[in-house]
Amino acid sequence: MAAPDTPRTDDWWRDAVIYQVYPRSFADGDGDGTGDLMGVRARLPYLAELGVDALWFTPWYLSPMVDGGYDVADYRAVDPAFGTLAEAEKLIAEAREAGIGVIVDIVPNHVSDQHAWFREALKAGPGSPERARFHFRPGRGENGELPPNDWPSQFSGNTWTRVPDGEWYLHLFTPEQPDLNWSHPEVRREHEDVLRFWFERGVAGVRIDSAALLTKDPDLRDFVEGTDPHPYIDQDEIHDIYRSWRALADEYGGVFVGEVWLPDSERFARYLRPDELHTAFNFNFLSCPWDADRLRRTIDDTLAEHAPVGAPATWVLCNHDVTRTATRYGRADTGFDFATKRFGTPTDLALGTRRARAAALLTLALPGSVYLYQGEELGLPEADVPLDRIQDPMHFRSGGTDPGRDGCRVPLPWEAEAETGSYGFGAGDEPWLPQPEDWAPYAVDRQTADPGSMLALYREALLLRRSEPGFGDGPMSWLPAPEGVLAFDRGHGLLCVVNLSEEPAVLPPHGRLLLASGPLDSEGLLPRDTAVWLRA
Ligand code: NOJ
Repeated sequence: MAAPDTPRTDDWWRDAVIYQVYPRSFADGDGDGTGDLMGVRARLPYLAELGVDALWFTPWYLSPMVDGGYDVADYRAVDPAFGTLAEAEKLIAEAREAGIGVIVDIVPNHVSDQHAWFREALKAGPGSPERARFHFRPGRGENGELPPNDWPSQFSGNTWTRVPDGEWYLHLFTPEQPDLNWSHPEVRREHEDVLRFWFERGVAGVRIDSAALLTKDPDLRDFVEGTDPHPYIDQDEIHDIYRSWRALADEYGGVFVGEVWLPDSERFARYLRPDELHTAFNFNFLSCPWDADRLRRTIDDTLAEHAPVGAPATWVLCNHDVTRTATRYGRADTGFDFATKRFGTPTDLALGTRRARAAALLTLALPGSVYLYQGEELGLPEADVPLDRIQDPMHFRSGGTDPGRDGCRVPLPWEAEAETGSYGFGAGDEPWLPQPEDWAPYAVDRQTADPGSMLALYREALLLRRSEPGFGDGPMSWLPAPEGVLAFDRGHGLLCVVNLSEEPAVLPPHGRLLLASGPLDSEGLLPRDTAVWLRA
């Protein structure tokens, strides 16, 4: 298995910086407008130079792409838009040679409606063993014309769809993503097989999609607001699945990261017990507004909830589902909430970018591992995707009020002056989502040439983070600081200070300034929305 060469611990994942690749939008090797594995392979030197330890790939499997590949038709095949299985194997091997582990994304809650199992289930009819792998039910009402229960969707809209023979099937997401029945032994066996399939191909880890949703109330009883347990979120039985997955991963030395959105920290930590998942995404941190008190509380809560189970924290600012950091931090409301996403929310990009730079240093200095979503190292803003080009089902299912998630999924700009119309994303002119016309300054080549760029900041920060023993997993302690300033000590003489107040802040006594997200003022004070790393 690929264990990237990190200096501080044998458990590389406890301090890793993991770069999230959204393959459709990273680099287009064959010029058809869609990013692919050939494109990633060609850009591996870029990722190695950036200094990341591992790559998490959102699903690259065969898929009709109704939900960006989270509708998987075959977990053992690579979608032709992305390449071939042989190419994925090469990519895993080449990344490993560059000291970079590969994490694949497994989607166990649902499959595509084009998956062989679901097609068989539709054909086989009510009461068949094929239907037992899903949640098929007769409807309610006199003629079965009403859905079997009232469960709310994760994507707004209905959670049940009726098939021509009159039965309904459950889908927490789109109708093209039928939910699997996790109390069925074949469903469990199949996924363990799929895990083995990818571990045997040398992947270092697996990201688990919708990890808290797999098991459902056996009677599929109605959802009653405020009652415990929820009929499909975080059911106790789910832990049994992860215990057997952990035993399997341990055979290969592979690690898990769970997509666990749970506000209750004690319930969240249960997924991270020593015989379950290694890590889970920190969505409380991702959703937290740019506010010193709120951030400090979130950091403290995170560390407190991870400590009893001995799991390292993860720090996440952005991913393919949420608003780009530079845009979010420039808004009046700097937190993130799916429910309040609207078109045309004003933002001050200069302010947001300044804060995103400071947030990069904050995040990379905290104890644990860090997830870096592609394009964040370029400071990309959320793009305004024209209405007629939007593809995300979240937009359509909201009745058009939610702009959806395409704005953070726009193909990366690589070359400011590329001959083609896609800033060097690929040889074609038309990427699958249009890039804004003013993205030349964000291009990798421009930023490489500019020591003040976001890319230069990330490169330097990652380099230091690798070489300084104070970073990564380990203790941290808060230092006294003025209102609105976060200052902490990571041991080994390493300090981090972030000024979120309006006033310039005096730096604590120190020897050397290692890195700053922006210049100090003429009096040597730390300006607002700026962060520094100091050697004590
Ligand atoms: C979470 C993924 O991150 C998101 O993109 C997807 O739409 C849902 N799970 C459903 O698989």
